[in-house]
This record gives sequence, C-alpha cells and structure tokens, in this order.
Amino acid sequence: MQIISTVAELRQRLRGVAGIAFVPTMGNLHQGHLDLVRIARQHGQCVVVSIFVNPLQFGANEDFSKYPRTLQADCDKLEGLADVFFAPTERELYPQPQQVTVEPPLANELCGAFRPGHFRGVATVVLKLFNIVQPQVAVFGKKDYQQLYVVRQVAAQLNLPVEIIGGETVRAPDGLALSSRNQYLSAAERTEAGFLYQMLVSTRQAMLDGVTDYAKLERQAAEALTARGWQVDYVAVRAQATLMQPESGARDLVILAAARLGQTRLIDNLEVCI
Ligand code: PAJ
Repeated sequence: MQIISTVAELRQRLRGVAGIAFVPTMGNLHQGHLDLVRIARQHGQCVVVSIFVNPLQFGANEDFSKYPRTLQADCDKLEGLADVFFAPTERELYPQPQQVTVEPPLANELCGAFRPGHFRGVATVVLKLFNIVQPQVAVFGKKDYQQLYVVRQVAAQLNLPVEIIGGETVRAPDGLALSSRNQYLSAAERTEAGFLYQMLVSTRQAMLDGVTDYAKLERQAAEALTARGWQVDYVAVRAQATLMQPESGARDLVILAAARLGQTRLIDNLEVCI
C-alpha cells in the first residue's frame, strides 16, 4: 500500500488506472470503515482510501479539535486491504482562504437542522475528493443515512461519472452502531448507548405490526429516550428514496434518530420495508 499526501502525487499515481473504487473517511478506522473497503475491493481493481478530518463540516462548537487522529494505526489496519492511502493536510485541500462550496438538498433538514453548514461541508469535500481521485465507484455507509442521500444527490445532479454504493451499518454486539465518537462515552453512557438501536428496533416492530401514526411513534420514541436521560435532537420516519415525510401507503421507509448522551451526539437509523 502506498501512502500519498499531495494531490499532484495522487494524480500521478492514478494516471491511466482503470477501475478505481474509493472510500472517503475521517480516519480512526473501525470495522465499519473496513467493511466499506472490502465492498470497494469487490467493485474495483484499485482501492483508494482517504483520511481527512474535514474542518468544513464541523460547527464552531463541535469536536473538530478533539476528533481522534490515529494515522499510523489506520495505516496498519488498511495494509493488505487498500492499494492507495490518501492523507492530505488541511492546507493541501483548502489552500485558499475562500472555499467554493456546494449546497446540497435537505442541507437544513434532520441532522442539518442541528448542524448548520455540516452537509455543505460534506458535499464540498466529497466533490473535491471525487475530482481528485476520479473513482468509478465510491462506497459510503448507511450509518450516515442522510450523508449517503446527500452524496447520491450531488453525484446525480452534478452528473458525476461515479456509482455510489451504500454499505450496511456495522454494529457492536448490543446493537450500537460503530462510530469513532463512541470512545467519547463514559462506561455508564456506553452501557446506555445500546438503547438507541433497541428503540429503532421496537419502532420498526410497531410499524411492521401495522401502526401507521408515525408522528405518534416518533413522539413515543423521543419520550422513551428522554426518560432515560438522552437529549433528543429528532426521531423521524421518512421515505427512503427522498428522506421526506412519507406519503400515505409508502412502503420503503427509514427511521432516523439523533440524540446526545452527555456531550456525545449519536446518530442511527433503521430501514423498514412494509
Ligand atoms: P467517517 O465518519 O470517517 O465515515 C467514513 C465512512 O464510513 C462513511 O461513509 C460512514 O457512513 C461509514 N461508516 C461509519 N461508521 C460506520 C458503521 N458503523 N458501519 C458502516 N459504515 C460506517 O462520514 C465521514 O467520515 C465524512 O463525513 C466523509 C464522508 C469522509 C467526508 O468528510
């Protein structure tokens, strides 16, 4: 595996290479990321993984400075799985004081309502990385369901020649979706954290049992979390294809949730096909 930190070097390495499959990350790699790299391997001859903690997608009061940076451990984990590892500096990706940005649809909905500018930052860095790497295929996790939606919209609406693949969420044995942010949790919070997934599973069960008052289900789920000490941003039942409120009779749905335990904000979701 080759480690590259400049755009010029990466372009040179990838010149003429066909079948590039790309997995963008912010590092601190766990099994969820590595699964995406394995999916990428099934779709391309040359697997490129990027690690870049993107300042543009963090709000002023968010965890940009304390976000775990574990470059050497990440390299070790990727050995034998990826062909090229791209780890640019902030200056390399954002050399100008004023950055051109991309404003995607639904940027102010769901997580976007609580993280102003977040999806603009994500869409902008993903578009830049796509232009740098020029992959045929790119793999993103369903764990960040709205992000996957945003990336699909950017690729489709800006006519990018890249196929976007969604990888299933990898979970701990108690159901908690793996995330770099889980390590912020205290021992007691970590024990409680599995409840977020349990709440999604029981909400899905109610939907499968025929409950159609989704607003009530959302309210009940948020109340159950609040009663256990969570600070809930939202619990929302949406249509998978649009992330909008489902029309009556819609069958391919997804329950999305974001809530904080202490200082740590966790997100999760579960697809429901009725
Ligand atoms: P990061 O949080 O590092 O995640 C990188 C990729 O791994 C994303 O596509 C995310 O959805 C996926 N992922 C994270 N946890 C997962 C899990 N438990 N199971 C499956 N996939 C999982 O998401 C980002 O970085 C950034 O926003 C990025 C797209 C790199 C742009 O900066």
